[in-house]
Amino acid sequence: MEFKIKNICCIGAGYVGGPSMAVIAKNCPDLEVNVVDINRERINKWNSENFDELPIYEPGLKEIIKRCRGLNLHFSTEVKKNIANADLIFISVNTPTKTKGVGAGQASDLKYVDSSAREIAKYAKGKTIVVEKSTLPVRTAQTIKNILEQSNIDNRDTKGNQREFFVLSNPEFLAEGTAINDLENPDRILIGGEDQEAIQGLANIYENWISERKIITTNLWSSELSKLIANAFLAQRISSINSISALCESTGADISEVKLAIGSDKRIGNKFLNSGPGFGGSCFKKDISNLIYIANHYGLYEVSEYWQNVISINAWQTNRISKIVVEKLFNTISFKKISILGFAFKANTNDTRESPAIKICKDLLEENCKLAIYDPQVSPLQIEYDLQLKQSDNLSNNDQAEWTFADTVIDASINSDAILVITEWEEFKFINWEIVYKHMRKPAWIFDTRSIVDINKVKMSGINFWQIGKGKI
Ligand code: UDX
Ligand code: UDX
Repeated sequence: MEFKIKNICCIGAGYVGGPSMAVIAKNCPDLEVNVVDINRERINKWNSENFDELPIYEPGLKEIIKRCRGLNLHFSTEVKKNIANADLIFISVNTPTKTKGVGAGQASDLKYVDSSAREIAKYAKGKTIVVEKSTLPVRTAQTIKNILEQSNIDNRDTKGNQREFFVLSNPEFLAEGTAINDLENPDRILIGGEDQEAIQGLANIYENWISERKIITTNLWSSELSKLIANAFLAQRISSINSISALCESTGADISEVKLAIGSDKRIGNKFLNSGPGFGGSCFKKDISNLIYIANHYGLYEVSEYWQNVISINAWQTNRISKIVVEKLFNTISFKKISILGFAFKANTNDTRESPAIKICKDLLEENCKLAIYDPQVSPLQIEYDLQLKQSDNLSNNDQAEWTFADTVIDASINSDAILVITEWEEFKFINWEIVYKHMRKPAWIFDTRSIVDINKVKMSGINFWQIGKGKI
């Protein structure tokens, strides 16, 4: 049976659901796209008159929302109605790492996927394609199928019509900060499933703007596992280069030269080789932890240990940053002011989940220093939440840990002893260090964890300089 898909619903209006559905709506004007979420505040933000108040900052997103919202793209909390009307439903809810119970600290918490499947089982009508968009442990599709098939014994909807469900896996590979471009021009679209017509129904949607050649179809389990493994491989490259950044600092080698030399080998490639303060974001740690849990479950202890090391190196890299800062500032930073440039886990997003900035700032605050934090997109409220510490209106002269939000780089630098660059925002590449230096207390330091500060310009200004992976400066 050929699927005629006219109405789609996405459960979860987050970093994945929101941008993905916006791009589908833009490229498929004949489709009705309804994004639903249980979080009313988030939905209100998606519907806000002022497009600068959308809940997610992503370059290019605002423009698409302006164009499609109210036409064929709708955001609402009406889960029941939109499930009932949908021919195809994406499940795009969050799947955090479990904090307690079996698998705590490693396994993914599937409570939201479970409850979404139950809502679909209750309200869906006729034939419905159910698509896993969230990253899920391999074989979750089986759980979803069981819930869908067993919740309603005679499999009839409220009007007595026969119902049928087709479960597909269609993981999303977008990276935050480049989400719109990744969605418009993906390297591949991965669809896992058993029913060929259902797979084709979903593929037809993507073929509105993506070449058929890029659509890979697999069985359900390969698709689910591939998403976890893609993230694990990307994270593993970062841990590899970060481990070498420390070796460069000790030996006098230069990580950017090493990167160029090894990245020129086509077999290695030059992407994803930037050393930094450790990877953050909602996916890498969660997905590797999940991989570790699965490997342990199947008794593959050496496999789990291998991937555990990728996480351990990442934590070690983040931890060593604050230690270097303290050591360079004569082993004490109490009464000192440190400016933090960038709090998001990467540039071009307002997302702070697992951001290395959180751990680094907490470590510095443990030493009773004062922080002035500047980020062009992260709100002071979010930082308060992440640091579990209210911001101070003014930094005092007392020997206590405090932080304040700075509106500009210059504001942050006034009377500060050190500047720590944590996120690679474009504007940090163009800072006039001579002006900044004038505002700082001397001796002044810059710590660049992203290799984006121009060494020559800093040297001319007279500031002391440390850069990740630079053995000699
Ligand atoms: C995504 C993926 O879906 C996840 O699997 C991946 O590993 C990380 O990225 P993301 O979009 O980033 O999640 O999560 P988030 O921004 O937290 O959005 C999820 C949304 O789902 C939230 O707005 C939440 O309110 C909503 N939700 C959650 C529901 O609408 N219903 C629920 O039952 C649970
Ligand atoms: C990642 C995957 O890239 C994406 O395919 C998947 O769908 C979700 O997880 P995301 O976490 O949004 O995307 O961003 P990504 O660009 O992968 O960066 C993750 C972290 O690694 C960031 O903290 C980033 O700063 C860091 N990173 C990335 C490096 O430290 N060095 C690099 O060379 C690349």
